[in-house]
Amino acid sequence: MTKSEVVARIRELKGKRNAVILAHNYQIGEVQEIADYVGDSLGLSQEAARVDAEVVVFCGVHFMAETAAILCPEKIVLLPDLKAGCPMADMINARELKEWRSRYPGRPVVCYVNTTAEVKAEADVCCTSSNAVRVVYSLPDDEILFVPDRNLAAYVARQTSKRIIPWDGYCYVHDRFLAADVLAGKREHPEAEVWVHPECRPEVIDLADRVMSTGSMVRAARETAIKEVLVGTETGILHRLRIENGQTMFYPLKADALCSNMKKITLRKVWEAMEEMKFKVEVPPGISQRARGAIEKMIAIEEV
Ligand code: 13P
Ligand code: SF4
Repeated sequence: MTKSEVVARIRELKGKRNAVILAHNYQIGEVQEIADYVGDSLGLSQEAARVDAEVVVFCGVHFMAETAAILCPEKIVLLPDLKAGCPMADMINARELKEWRSRYPGRPVVCYVNTTAEVKAEADVCCTSSNAVRVVYSLPDDEILFVPDRNLAAYVARQTSKRIIPWDGYCYVHDRFLAADVLAGKREHPEAEVWVHPECRPEVIDLADRVMSTGSMVRAARETAIKEVLVGTETGILHRLRIENGQTMFYPLKADALCSNMKKITLRKVWEAMEEMKFKVEVPPGISQRARGAIEKMIAIEEV
């Protein structure tokens, strides 16, 4: 079947199944193009909660589909490839979190949305890369446990006066960016601004002009008049940035910064998922209810 035939089948199935397709900013271009909504983790979870559809086809990684399933228990959530996981989300499980937090009695746990539902169920409040600082500020406590990303934790710690106690997790894509990459990029493009994701190491963040979630990068691209930007995050974002702004040159800070998990979703798999109604992502009600509390607390902070 040709690509346009697959796209036509997907469009047909969207109506037939009353389905909506949500895609993360790191998805391959052709998947972003058939999506009804493309965004960052926060935008996707908010969109999942508000869409009026029976089926949500989630083009992203497993924890994102799980978040949608938690927020919309009445909808069917499909992930076109069950192997699309997030290695950082798997760096802590509920047992480890319970054991760790018992060593810091009374400290609240802020949990990055890049975690499994069972970890969210053990946390006090969730955050994403776009609202982590706001979430931490919203808590009355001076000492906060933060899981699982040590780099995001370090970024948040430097924006607040609170003591952030990090779990030692990291994103294998963002942790590979080094100060030397920024310096090399700047040598090649001395006029360029450097935009990086807060999952990058502190040494990279120190050299950046702006630190943003993928959603904020998209908004910044829409507004910027700067001629060149070096982009320090997964390269899938470049597709969207270039659509938003055809005047600015967007260069990857590292051409091989690829999240292989995000790239597991293809047009054909989206079509197969919709055709065969697979793979359903479901969260057991007990876990779902507790995890939902942590996510909704974050959304409430976001709406203040
Ligand atoms: P965003 O929330 O910025 O889209 O980040 C999600 C992610 O997985 C980054 O690696
Ligand atoms: Fe997880 Fe990193 Fe991939 Fe984001 S880019 S989904 S944090 S492995």
